[in-house]
Amino acid sequence: MARYLVTSAIPYINGIKHLGNLVGSQLPSDVYARYLRGRGHEVMHICATDEHGSPAELAAQKAGKPVAEYCAEMHEVQADLARGFDMAFDHFGRSSSPQNHELTQAFAAALDANGLIAKVTEEQVYSVTDGRFLPDRYIEGTCPNCGFDSARGDQCDNCTKQLDPTDLIEPRSTISGATDLEVRETVHLHLRQSQLKGELADWIESKHDWPVLTTSIAKKWLNDGDGLQDRGITRDLDWGVPVPGLEGKVFYVWFDAPIAYIASTAEKFEDWERWWRTDKGAEDVTYVQFMGKDNVPFHTLSFPATILGSGQPWKLVDYIKSFNYLNYEGGQFSTSRGRGVFMDQALSVLPSDYWRWWLMSNVPETSDSQFTWEAFQQGVNKDLADVLGNFVSRVTKFCRSKFGEEVPDGAYGEEEQALTEELARRVRLYEGHMEAMEFRKATAELRAIWVAGNEYLQETAPWAVFKTDPARAAGIVRFALNLARLYAVLSRPFIPAAAETLRAALATDLDWPSDMGAALDTLEPGHAFTVPDNLFAKITDEQREDWQERFKGR
Ligand code: 2FM
Ligand code: ZN
Repeated sequence: MARYLVTSAIPYINGIKHLGNLVGSQLPSDVYARYLRGRGHEVMHICATDEHGSPAELAAQKAGKPVAEYCAEMHEVQADLARGFDMAFDHFGRSSSPQNHELTQAFAAALDANGLIAKVTEEQVYSVTDGRFLPDRYIEGTCPNCGFDSARGDQCDNCTKQLDPTDLIEPRSTISGATDLEVRETVHLHLRQSQLKGELADWIESKHDWPVLTTSIAKKWLNDGDGLQDRGITRDLDWGVPVPGLEGKVFYVWFDAPIAYIASTAEKFEDWERWWRTDKGAEDVTYVQFMGKDNVPFHTLSFPATILGSGQPWKLVDYIKSFNYLNYEGGQFSTSRGRGVFMDQALSVLPSDYWRWWLMSNVPETSDSQFTWEAFQQGVNKDLADVLGNFVSRVTKFCRSKFGEEVPDGAYGEEEQALTEELARRVRLYEGHMEAMEFRKATAELRAIWVAGNEYLQETAPWAVFKTDPARAAGIVRFALNLARLYAVLSRPFIPAAAETLRAALATDLDWPSDMGAALDTLEPGHAFTVPDNLFAKITDEQREDWQERFKGR
């Protein structure tokens, strides 16, 4: 048994996330954390809402609410949705927590003590009309790098380049649209991350097993001389972690957000340091982070710079699993145009397992991937309804009609032996893919494991055998009921609700199969069970067309 710390990138507080956001962070992190728990490891699984920064202030303004109230409400909304999607977080915290305020200020103090913070008089964009400085998203303009006309003050969404508001061409205020902007001087803190370049480069260089997507982005930022410029870590905002000694300023949201992984753990657990401090028990912890590719620079460079620069024994990440983007029906998900399926809408249409399965079996792992209603209908109907659901239904109903609702007494023969061996092989492969976090391969293997059960039933045909040799049919049914239990165990990371339904119906535990022979002999003759309701309903063409229309956006 080992110890794993697993974090999902923390969603911004403003607005409900779409399926593309979900499949790039919370969902795979949940699948992985559940898998590790299933294998008996000790797991700490953490997420939170990312509540600071200009987007939060702007969204609160739009909602006509004080920002603290807006964030408290939206936190509940997002926590509810996480529960709705069966995210088994040990804690879903808030970056605005007192714990995060304290830790963020402490990190800044440690960096300062190590000479890594500079007080810099900066030229900032000031809006005369608005009577304030315009940090980050308070300002928009044309990207100097790619020409995109709605680049934000902090980052271009088109080319992902990190920007300063003064970099923008033809800038305008997003509060008022004002263009009477001028540059004024004000003092900000800079993190001298260029000092840490060598250390960060060595660290990233040592990560031979990281996904190419992660290391390629990290190295690009490290080597193009851009990613490791000294950067401002404070902003002229009211809402955020106050900067001691700099009246009216707060830390930049990307400075305090990753620290919230630690703070969220501390919100809930008194012994949080045994997960986060290598001098307090975390030296044997493996730390894995999940995120979309746009988050990679902050997790491979900025946050590690904070950790390393502090000179304190904080736990550094061991593995960063990053994801490409999920597109929607030939275009992009769009919040502003209401295009695509958002987390609340998804759950209003179908239970979470349907989404979890389809999204993970189509996760944008090696390239961008695409949600289409047709592919979704096909995947759900084929894998979940026809293969897994049908297997469980056939076996349990057949047993009930011929032997009653208890496991019949019958011996295993050659067919069972052969399938046991095949499954032992396949489950080792499945474990390997899960441990490597190669989720496409893992779902393909799991599907193959379900298919093998269906083929077994097809070939052994207990309904026919029963007429001439009921004892043999009993052996087949006993084996098939044990297969159903095995499927619940193996599938639980992806479809936890169905796994629980199955577990309850079979009145069993879901211990991981260390010995396949023993695993398929768990439900013994005479063991009582009930026939579960149909695990999965098929998606009809009518439903598909209806949903396609409903979520196509303006
Ligand atoms: O991209 C995002 O949604 C960010 N809120 C992720 C932050 S992850 C971490 F650093 F906290
Ligand atoms: Zn750009």
